Amino acid sequence: MQYKLQGRAIVALTAWDYMSGVIVDQAGADLVLVGDSLAMAVLGHDSTLPLTLDEMLHHGRAVRRGVKRALVVLDLPFLTYQESVGQAIASAGRALKEAGMQGVKLEGGHPEMIETVRRLVNIGIPVMGHIGLTPQSLHQLGLRQQGQGEAEQAALIDQAVALERAGAFALVLEHVPAELARQISQKLMIPTIGIGAGPDCDGQVLVTADLWGLSDRQPPFAKVYVNLRQAALGATAEFCEDVRAGRFDPKA
Ligand code: KIV
Repeated sequence: MQYKLQGRAIVALTAWDYMSGVIVDQAGADLVLVGDSLAMAVLGHDSTLPLTLDEMLHHGRAVRRGVKRALVVLDLPFLTYQESVGQAIASAGRALKEAGMQGVKLEGGHPEMIETVRRLVNIGIPVMGHIGLTPQSLHQLGLRQQGQGEAEQAALIDQAVALERAGAFALVLEHVPAELARQISQKLMIPTIGIGAGPDCDGQVLVTADLWGLSDRQPPFAKVYVNLRQAALGATAEFCEDVRAGRFDPKA
């Protein structure tokens, strides 16, 4: 909230292990998200749905060991918080107690989720909201841009306001029209963090595997800053050739 008041853009990046946590932290991210995108980018699933809480906590602990400065938030995986408020408290509690997280992120802004956010915040668990394209609702919403047409836009604005009132400390806006993201960002006191939501959010988040060009399934709104996949492929192929040709010498 303070960053927003100061007009300072928030930089958020995902991390999935110690190494990625160290790099994004040392590079200056303000917020490190142990995102459930790791299900696809790192674990090779076709969606985020199969990921378990135990898997997330395992990755979260590794990230936590690497991040010394930024705020670390963990995505609660599909069906580890939607069933009941009690389930959400138990899952979020494990994220804080067992993985040292400083907050959790939940997808959705429907009334039951608003109540869940309110209860978590009331017992001292910081919550980041996430609306727009919510990959855990893949089979209902698909992967298309959300907030198309007046009714969808009005619903997203209502959800954003309700999440702020419930006590969320920030709100991820994924794959919504830039103008809608601008309007929501202006309306809220809490910061919006956009991904595929135009330049006028209070901060931006990228999936780090996309930023590094490591992922083989980038969404259309991802931005690749360096092609590490290509570099790693080239270096690895060179090592293979050196060994096979009898040229490999670790000292050369
Ligand atoms: O899981 C994730 O990486 C996310 C980002 C898209 C914000 O939720």
